[in-house]
Amino acid sequence: MDETNRAWAALEAAPRAALTALFAREPGRLGALSLDEGGIRFDFSKTHLDAGLVAGFAALARHQDLAGARDALFAGNIVNPTEGRAAEHSAERGQGAPESVARASALHARMRALIDAIEAEAFGPIRHVIHIGIGGSALGPDFLIDALGRGSDRYEAAIVSNVDAAALEEAVAGFDPQTTLLVIASKTFTTSETMLNARSAIAWLEDGGVEDPYGRIVALTAAPDKAIEFGIDETRVLPFSESVGGRYSLWSAIGFPAALALGWEAFEQLLEGAAAMDRHFRLAPLERNAPVLAAFVDRYYANIRGAETRAVFAYDERLRLLPSYLQQLEMESDGKSVKLDGSPVGRATAPITWGGVGTDAQHAVFQLLHQGTHLVPVEFVAAIEPGHSYDEEHHRQLLINCFAQGAALMAGKASDDPHRSYPGDRPSTTILLDRIDPPTLGALLAFYEHRTFANAVLLGINPFDQYGVELGKEMAKSIDGGGMDFDPSTEALIEKALGGLDE
Ligand code: F6P
Repeated sequence: MDETNRAWAALEAAPRAALTALFAREPGRLGALSLDEGGIRFDFSKTHLDAGLVAGFAALARHQDLAGARDALFAGNIVNPTEGRAAEHSAERGQGAPESVARASALHARMRALIDAIEAEAFGPIRHVIHIGIGGSALGPDFLIDALGRGSDRYEAAIVSNVDAAALEEAVAGFDPQTTLLVIASKTFTTSETMLNARSAIAWLEDGGVEDPYGRIVALTAAPDKAIEFGIDETRVLPFSESVGGRYSLWSAIGFPAALALGWEAFEQLLEGAAAMDRHFRLAPLERNAPVLAAFVDRYYANIRGAETRAVFAYDERLRLLPSYLQQLEMESDGKSVKLDGSPVGRATAPITWGGVGTDAQHAVFQLLHQGTHLVPVEFVAAIEPGHSYDEEHHRQLLINCFAQGAALMAGKASDDPHRSYPGDRPSTTILLDRIDPPTLGALLAFYEHRTFANAVLLGINPFDQYGVELGKEMAKSIDGGGMDFDPSTEALIEKALGGLDE
């Protein structure tokens, strides 16, 4: 048995105790398992981690050379070997190889210059922005604008990702083509949904009497040549580095609509908040490192307790898109079955991330969390400051509900009536933000990125490729192209819905 397997075996053999018993016997538990970083309280004390498990996972992390992997990430070394690339999202916030940081900051300067020009009405009186992109080219800006742009009198932005044109139709409904800027975001500039939506949005501009619709487009891409070939002038093509992965790209040119909608200063603060979390991840000891401790929690439940999912509940309307953002970040990154060397990973990798918003979820899915047969580690994300000017009782009730759920999941309640009995001992993590502002959200999202990376290192997998999404794309192309035989079920569906295919 090698060192890594020995570390896993020790973790599997570690004694188990109920959460309430852990609190009773460890007076320093709260202090040891909670920490404040970047305006955020991370409280892992209602999970089953204890001093022994933290030491066990730290040993695993050493055998997996987490420190070395982390250094390689920030040094801009090739940490994505299957694609032969570095993963340089942190360079976008000034943390990385000097030449990568310089390149990112030059590209940010271009982005800023274009925003200045738009603000100076170089493209006419722009009021609306339609951002077309999908996956990592949409989820980050969508989340940021929804979280931070409420009540802003700057640009009104709509994010369109679904190839179902009902999404585009809804987005353009309130917009005037004469005052709308079109943003086409695609790392590869080949994604079929984005290209089709882009063409339809250009037609909408044309139909709306815009004389030079291509002059109204900004492209965000790591393939600038393709955007230029598409017909967009180079001055409105904002490139970003090939080594910034799609789901890690909101810090790059992909953040353009957020920078436009929120203002450049806010975007810079976002980057600064993320940089502070980068420094924490790089420098804090493993036992006091928020992303690393969170990864220990993830691995504990997925690998030692067999949890197949993890649930994230945003106890704040402004964070309602966080679960969707995290689904791509975590599942596209760590939803793998083989290790870096191609051999089977041999243990569970990413759990299924799901979630919703509190308090709505309490009245829908929490029944299963409290009394169901599945073990689901829950994550509560809340903010101390409210995002509205209504009676503060709303926010008080929101936070009270959030904290009550965590307490109830842990404590449970015995009853002679089995239907009214709550087993308790159900784990949760609480992530409490001082406020929802650009630096704090920057720190929060960087925390999730590094947590995802730390999980991958503990498992020995590559979090930066996504070959799993390719097969479906190929099949769609084959169906579209016709002339190919599919299984009887698929053939019948094609026949019924599309009247067969052109041969
Ligand atoms: O199909 C998955 C994916 O490649 C994601 O990784 C990516 O974020 C998304 O598609 C969009 O890709 P692009 O930015 O190249 O259009």
